[in-house]
Amino acid sequence: MLKILRTKDYADMSRKTANLISAQIILKPDCVLGLATGSSPVGAYMQLVDWYKKGDVDFSRVRTVNLDEYLGLPRENDQSYYYFMHHNLFDHVNLPEGASNLPNGMAEDMNAECARYDALIRSLGGVDLQLLGIGHDGHIGFNEPCDHFPTGTHVVDLAERTIEANQRFFASRDEVPRKAVTMGIGTIMAARKVVLVASGAEKAPIVKEAFFGPVTPQVPASILQMHPDVTLVADEAALSLVK
Ligand code: GLP
Repeated sequence: MLKILRTKDYADMSRKTANLISAQIILKPDCVLGLATGSSPVGAYMQLVDWYKKGDVDFSRVRTVNLDEYLGLPRENDQSYYYFMHHNLFDHVNLPEGASNLPNGMAEDMNAECARYDALIRSLGGVDLQLLGIGHDGHIGFNEPCDHFPTGTHVVDLAERTIEANQRFFASRDEVPRKAVTMGIGTIMAARKVVLVASGAEKAPIVKEAFFGPVTPQVPASILQMHPDVTLVADEAALSLVK
């Protein structure tokens, strides 16, 4: 079932999202959080760091699994998702060493890496709360539009539109990786709770299409219409095309 939290703006969206995550941690201190990158969740991570510093949220028993990673960017590269997560969250809270997980986009054998990541998620008992952003083409994680819904972790060729959108973080278009490794749609759908954040007018068309259009692998996020517990936390601008 879809719940929509309509928020005033990005700050309000971030606070409400952080509230949902912290409620999850309070209800199940040893929960598994599925985490996302991109600009949309950054405010929620900042809020969580702030609450952690005030003693209001405790990550000491939490485990995390991230959605995705670029292929070929070492951890120290400030555009790697490993770097992003440490910089925006992990380095500032009491998440124990070894409790955070990301797929390794530098692995020599990517097939083995995908199998390792799926086995790891299984061994943690699956994801309790999966946080998601949404790409302009409806991608979640890096599951790009295609002719089916991929089940497990896999390597993808990034869509032209995604390369363009992510170009803003790199010195030039040529530096944007063309491939990534992502958790599959099957794993995302198996999460017990999904929270998707969307902000800004540029996301309005895809928010409408994903949640109110036909369910199709051409709009990967549309599968979330079939998930039993999805909360869309979006600001007025992102919801401007939804009545
Ligand atoms: C990237 C990430 C996605 C994210 C998307 C949207 O492609 N792999 O997980 O949802 O960007 O990012 P933003 O929130 O910056 O619009």
